[in-house]
Amino acid sequence: MNRDLQTMSGLDVAVDADELALAFGPDVVHPEGERRSLGDVRATLEDPEASGPEHLYTIYMDVCRAADHGALVDQSLLYGAVVYNHGLIGRERLRSQGHRHSCKPGTDLRYSEVYEFWTGHGHVYLQQECGPVVTRALLVPVGPGDKVIVPLGWVHLTVASTDEPLAFGAWCAREGKLEYDELRALGGPAHFVLANGDVVPNPRYTQVADVEVVAPRDLPLLDVPYEQPIYRAWREEPGRFDFLPQPELVACAWEEL
Ligand SMILES: [Fe+2]
Repeated sequence: MNRDLQTMSGLDVAVDADELALAFGPDVVHPEGERRSLGDVRATLEDPEASGPEHLYTIYMDVCRAADHGALVDQSLLYGAVVYNHGLIGRERLRSQGHRHSCKPGTDLRYSEVYEFWTGHGHVYLQQECGPVVTRALLVPVGPGDKVIVPLGWVHLTVASTDEPLAFGAWCAREGKLEYDELRALGGPAHFVLANGDVVPNPRYTQVADVEVVAPRDLPLLDVPYEQPIYRAWREEPGRFDFLPQPELVACAWEEL
């Protein structure tokens, strides 16, 4: 049975938990969902031979109301939506492989991303450096309505922690690329989130700071309002999201993190 997410997301979208798919209303333009499978994340697992659900999540990139598409292209914004499976991969909770975003051309500033969670519970894992020495790593518990902005340049991934599918939307820069290779070469993220809730360091790293658990509201939210869907927040005031295609606008926002 589909669960309506219109109030939660500000878009005409519902989640089909049985199919791990999203269903969109007639005025929403969207691509076919792309399925990500266990093979896609193997290189980043605590145990690359581990078994787990074959279908990890379904992602829809470039979703919007048909009337909004031109404005999003003009502003260089992209909206995506995802629904996750649940379960374990070896000792780890089911998760994405992790990536960081490319640099804005001509700068050394990497693009950010704004997450908004709709159903289920999980964690956003944030890692400051994409190298063998990691000085900051944050684990952010998330549930319906929570929002998280990825600090510029940080590695990030999503962990699904409950039996209800974790579904969420996200804004990012249309020109940005997702970079996976460096994290794969490191053998995954600096920590692994296990089924029992323990978070263990990745022994393939040289030096890893202890993970810090941080509530989503304790992270910088810039001018993104917490109490309304990020899609509606964009429609009301598109400029709130200019920092996504223009990371130079918020280069210092995470200095106090
Ligand atoms: Fe991302």
